[in-house]
Amino acid sequence: MPRQLFVTTALPYANGNFHIGHIMEYIQADTWVRFQRMRGVAVDFCGADDTHGAPIMIAAEKVGKTPQQFVADIAAGRKQYLDGFHIRFDNWHSTDAPENHELAKQIFLDLQANGLIETRTIEQFFDPEKNMFLPDRYIKGECPKCHAQDQYGDNCEVCGAVYAPTDLIKPFSALSGATPVLKNSEHFFFKLSDPRCVDFLQAWTQDGRLQPEVANKVKEWFTVRTNPDGSTSEGLGDWDISRDAPYFGIEIPNAPGKYFYVWLDAPIGYLASLKNLLDKRGQSYDEYMANPELRQIHFIGKDIVTFHTLFWPATLKFSGRKVPDNVYVHGFLTVNNGEKMSKSRGTGLDPLKYLQLGMNAEWLRYYLAAKLSGRNEDIDFNADDFMARVNSDLIGKYINIASRAAGFLTKRFDGTLTTGFADDGQALLETIRAQSEQLAQWYDEREFSKVTREVMLLADKVNSYVDVHKPWDLAKDPANNAALHQVCSVLVNAFALLTRYLAPVLPGLAAQVESFVGQSMTQWDAQALVERIQPYQHLMQRVTPEQLDALFGVKEPEAQEKPAQAAPKKAAKAAPAPVDPNAPGGEALAPTISIDDFAKVDLRIAKILACEAVEGSTKLLRLTLDAGEKNAEGQPTTRNVFSGIASMYQPEQLVGKLTVLVANLAPRKMKFGMSEGMVLAASHADEAAQPGIYVLEPFPGAQPGMRIH
Ligand code: 2FM
Ligand code: ZN
Repeated sequence: MPRQLFVTTALPYANGNFHIGHIMEYIQADTWVRFQRMRGVAVDFCGADDTHGAPIMIAAEKVGKTPQQFVADIAAGRKQYLDGFHIRFDNWHSTDAPENHELAKQIFLDLQANGLIETRTIEQFFDPEKNMFLPDRYIKGECPKCHAQDQYGDNCEVCGAVYAPTDLIKPFSALSGATPVLKNSEHFFFKLSDPRCVDFLQAWTQDGRLQPEVANKVKEWFTVRTNPDGSTSEGLGDWDISRDAPYFGIEIPNAPGKYFYVWLDAPIGYLASLKNLLDKRGQSYDEYMANPELRQIHFIGKDIVTFHTLFWPATLKFSGRKVPDNVYVHGFLTVNNGEKMSKSRGTGLDPLKYLQLGMNAEWLRYYLAAKLSGRNEDIDFNADDFMARVNSDLIGKYINIASRAAGFLTKRFDGTLTTGFADDGQALLETIRAQSEQLAQWYDEREFSKVTREVMLLADKVNSYVDVHKPWDLAKDPANNAALHQVCSVLVNAFALLTRYLAPVLPGLAAQVESFVGQSMTQWDAQALVERIQPYQHLMQRVTPEQLDALFGVKEPEAQEKPAQAAPKKAAKAAPAPVDPNAPGGEALAPTISIDDFAKVDLRIAKILACEAVEGSTKLLRLTLDAGEKNAEGQPTTRNVFSGIASMYQPEQLVGKLTVLVANLAPRKMKFGMSEGMVLAASHADEAAQPGIYVLEPFPGAQPGMRIH
């Protein structure tokens, strides 16, 4: 194991808030870093804002701010996301900070001294009104191929043609509308085509430090490259690293009016953030970087591989610095399969909205872990899949283990655990312990989906053990006290081990469990035994369809004061519990709730005034219910409720009957109309094996509107 890691994530442009792609990358890196720390490895995890470049300068000007003020305002908004998602950078800095100005200049001078910088005169479009050279993105005009109007200077969004800005017909400046003129300018180039660079990069990119699929892609760039006009050339091209004033960036030494192109100084910001951190700690940056056991690791997305596998290592190497040890590339995150914005659920997942809705950050951390691998591949956030994995796996299989055992230990054994386990209990714990090194290896390889899958398989084994030993049955007879004690002790120990395995993904939950089991979860230690527990506090709520609707959809979250109403059974039960043939009704009992929790559900007697089939649905019946309610004028009102019971009842069988209505569920818009309640019905978890859904009916005497207590 290396003794010191320096880990970074890509530096986000300081011209907008974080989007879900940033958060995914930070969660991936944060999880990995937390795991390394549990293994005793020292890690410094650094981030920063990427502040320079023409787009930020122009955006600042538009809102009447200096670029410095503009990026400072963006920086001030970062903390709420990072804290909210338990993303714990050791330092967050800025590429406009003094450390970066100094380092970038020094690195440039070192490259120059090494004979790898040259100047060339190039011809570029210049905006005579704005008095500035125009980046390709700020030149527009008519596509030379298909003649579409208003196309950008680098490619046509209509026909897809790639060209140079000078090929545009009737070009104009997107900043001022003026017709740009061609003007000469001297630019600085980093000579990547120098054989020293080519030799070094060929070795560095192909020696196993990159993921195989990334190394293969990079290989192609040594033989062929695409020029701005769409033609191709052989081998690595030199890299234009300068821009002319006005530019928000770092001035090039001894070259007034010339600035580093943003991508030259952006990755240097990794080092600047580290230096800033070390300075704050009173550590020497030079000594730190000279440590032969230091590993430098960059987490990035697949869109910026060129910068991190060609320009950046070459910049470091030929300025006489340490080169990166690994670049870990991830794919893109699509949301709901990149579906077009639908009426009910949009496609964007706004991370801040997620937090503001009170959704648990660790649901997302868990879900992303369950999808992420060590490969550069895209993953999809799917709302239904999210709900199933959180409710059925994370909560149904893992969290519930604790609640199933804790109550007995607290009530019957004063919270004290025994260590005298029967054979199968001991064997269960050994099975869990035996996975420790395999799980550690998967974490190290960023194979988080393998970790969560294995932990859920272990949780299945624990739940089978519960079903065999049935602590609730043992508790009925004091003669079984010793057995009850050891079964529940095994369960809490199993839960503590699984928590440790998931701690890098679920740091907030692990901290709660630390108080529950009186154990630190900061080490990767599969041998620790729990001696005593504190009374069990509920650890995690389930995600609801309403929360996902509010996150993606046009619907706002339900306000507390809204009138009582409800959703159809199917929607509210979108994440069914796993089928368990040994459990009553085929599903394990839900976690214990307090009487106050129960009181939140307002159940009322309702009379079925009318019932009819729903055209276009084989499952639903439409019920008109009298729940004893009146409107403001004192007139009786009814509710419209859809219920998935058409397979069991003819409409006329139900008319005139009393039943039970969940009266304070949020109303739900369905294809066939608004559903204003949910009628209670019983069914077996394994619908295929034991079909049938049975509506509840009260004893005679109950009246519409009566509450069920
Ligand atoms: O693509 C981007 O969002 C860049 N701001 C990433 C920079 S990563 C590093 F080089 F700073
Ligand atoms: Zn075109």
